Amino acid sequence: MNLLITGASGLYGSKLAEKATANYAVYSGYCQDPPAFGNPIQFDISDRSRIGEVFKKVNPAVVVHAAALTDVDKCETNKKLAWQINVEGTRNIVKETKANHAFLVYISTDYVFNGEAGNYKENDQPDPINYYGFTKLKAEKLVKDTVDDYCIARASVIYGSTPAAGKVNYALWVLDKLRRNEQIKIITDQWNSPTLNTNLVDMTLEVIERRLTGTFHLSGATRISRYDFAALIAQTFDLNEKLIKPSASAEFSWSAKRPTDSSLNTAKAQQTLKNKPLQISQALEKMKQEVFKYKQ
Ligand SMILES: NC(=O)c1ccc[n+]([C@@H]2O[C@H](COP(=O)([O-])OP(=O)(O)OC[C@H]3O[C@@H](n4cnc5c(N)ncnc54)[C@H](OP(=O)(O)O)[C@@H]3O)[C@@H](O)[C@H]2O)c1
Repeated sequence: MNLLITGASGLYGSKLAEKATANYAVYSGYCQDPPAFGNPIQFDISDRSRIGEVFKKVNPAVVVHAAALTDVDKCETNKKLAWQINVEGTRNIVKETKANHAFLVYISTDYVFNGEAGNYKENDQPDPINYYGFTKLKAEKLVKDTVDDYCIARASVIYGSTPAAGKVNYALWVLDKLRRNEQIKIITDQWNSPTLNTNLVDMTLEVIERRLTGTFHLSGATRISRYDFAALIAQTFDLNEKLIKPSASAEFSWSAKRPTDSSLNTAKAQQTLKNKPLQISQALEKMKQEVFKYKQ
């Protein structure tokens, strides 16, 4: 069965491509950074006619749409580009997915919520406070309005053991700084549900196998502040926690606003899936094993 992944060079998509090759003919879509796993296929999702060609060539039974402009501040300062990739790109993917009668998994985000309440359930009212969240919510609507069989999988602060698409993720950045004995300032006043990429991959593969439809919060199971997350990373990897200095979000000047508490309630996924959202301590232990595996 043919599986097309968009964003297969990214933090999440690269791990999905790696694991999915065991059971599927994987086509790994990328734009600039060639992916390490699957059959690489280059395209810009905002190029309507190219997406038509890609679907003709690949003829996917399943599409996982993970490609996006994920830089939240860049989305704020370059709204045109964010709209082009996150909304128009998704429009192209959903049209072809429908025409192909394929099953679609769309990877979305906790940033569709405003962050005033936290512990969001799938049916809670989205209300994005930055342009990235706005475009991802528009894309969710395109998926719902166009595709017959879809799953919208919302994640939150994805992290993992290896750099991807030319950049390190938050957890690897913390690890690198602490290993160099450098101090880092981390905010104590933002909470979310950090998601280990390989945990998200296992949950996505189950969604595909069982053709689960609707919206699912497939994030990590633990609500945690950025600061406490960094402290747990230090503890898990036996590094010096004292190098992590607490700070407030008001000390930083980002272009895009961040939700205060965009943590996701994962009860639906816990009840439905065999591959459950992991608690943060389990996920960091898993990441530790993966870091050592990839070093060897
Ligand atoms: N990272 C997070 O904390 C987080 C949290 C919640 C939800 N999400 C969602 O999860 C998904 C995966 O995120 P990620 O962090 O794995 O992404 P990422 O590492 O930033 O990678 C982005 C991917 O999108 C591709 N891409 C970007 N523009 C493209 C274009 N115009 N045409 C085709 N491909 C394009 C990139 O390809 P090239 O590198 O080859 O250009 C890359 O493979 C995204 O939809 C994101 O919105 C992410």
